[in-house]
Amino acid sequence: MTINEYNFAGKKAIVRVDFNVPIQDGKITDMTRINGALPTLKLILEKGGSLIIMSHMGKPKGKVKPELSLSQIVDAVSTALGTPVQFCNDCQKADEQAAALKPGEVLLLENLRYYPEEEGKPVGIDKEDPAYDEAKKAMKASQKEFAKKLASYADCWVMDAFGTAHRKHASTAVIADYFDKENVMLGLLMEKEVTAVDNVLSNIKRPFVAIMGGSKVSSKIGIIENLLGKVDKLILCGGMTYTFSKAHGGEIGDSIVELDKLDVALGVEKMAKENGVELVLGEDSVCCTGYDFKTFSVKEGAQIKVFPSNAIEAGWDGLDAGPISREKFAKALEGAKTILWNGPAGCFECEEFTPGSRAIGEAVAKATAEGAFSLIGGGDSVACVNKFGLADKVSYISTGGGALLEAIEGKVLPGIAAVKGE
Ligand code: 3PG
Repeated sequence: MTINEYNFAGKKAIVRVDFNVPIQDGKITDMTRINGALPTLKLILEKGGSLIIMSHMGKPKGKVKPELSLSQIVDAVSTALGTPVQFCNDCQKADEQAAALKPGEVLLLENLRYYPEEEGKPVGIDKEDPAYDEAKKAMKASQKEFAKKLASYADCWVMDAFGTAHRKHASTAVIADYFDKENVMLGLLMEKEVTAVDNVLSNIKRPFVAIMGGSKVSSKIGIIENLLGKVDKLILCGGMTYTFSKAHGGEIGDSIVELDKLDVALGVEKMAKENGVELVLGEDSVCCTGYDFKTFSVKEGAQIKVFPSNAIEAGWDGLDAGPISREKFAKALEGAKTILWNGPAGCFECEEFTPGSRAIGEAVAKATAEGAFSLIGGGDSVACVNKFGLADKVSYISTGGGALLEAIEGKVLPGIAAVKGE
């Protein structure tokens, strides 16, 4: 069953979306995820249904954290949908508000992760604790109750949270057990995202160039190893550059590094060689003596200078790709026919350190204009593309970060498996 075929007239649909959007000073700084869910939400309303929208925001780990309240996005969702949105400040106490919904009306539930049951992980107990297994069992039972409660608000469940589809949570998977098969379906965003991934995987036009940025090799190692079996070139940038430099005995000053992953970095290089993949690493870095990672700004009196990425002096922190690296990355993208970009090349939130990510964005846009299919995923790379005004110059912007990478790895996403009854 798809939402195009389903008869929503007079029905209540509970829709899992991923409205985990970036917020600064109470304002949403990137609407990509909200806009991505609109076609599904609007279609259900047009077909005479009412909506109960549910999402998580951030990682409150089972606690109420006002800064992660979805109440902050009610106005933006109302404006985007063109209709008022009611709010329920406790997702487990929405019975009356849900029951009162009339066709065309919309209710947004508070952050699902204020309850530990959403994720289903026992809290306050260590994995090593002998009582852990019992606690886990108890939590799984409560997770089922939690999902059952959410399901009780509606006649059908629509899964449209691609960004969270790699999580087997109460609202993204377990809830499916409390509806008949014909009342469970994927939303339009899910279908679009899956098609984009298919486009990359089943129809690879070469050369295939992937760009992986971000600060840690450890968080990307699974996808990096997987991509080494698929791509022709792999550009590695961002903070992970310094783990590679260090692995070769380079001096990296105060730059971010994973000292326990030096062997992993060398392993990646070896694997690239064995697979005939050209590994492209930055050679120089824009460094700074005082960067404030909280306010994304250069501290007063701090200096900025370019160093070779393997000869950074003590007291300096590598924060962006230098001019030689930027040229190298752009050159590696010339003539690409399939491109995947996840993770920025530097601290792009601060103007001084945008050039690396901008150079990549522009090179991706140029290759796209020349016929490449480019897929951009992950909050930061999507924010870069939007910031640099390149959103309409790339082929597809995914709302998924981790979910996109797992889908590209070929993993079955639990959110999709639940809908398919697998
Ligand atoms: C994301 O931002 O990638 C999604 O919202 C999933 O969030 P999570 O990694 O906290 O599950």
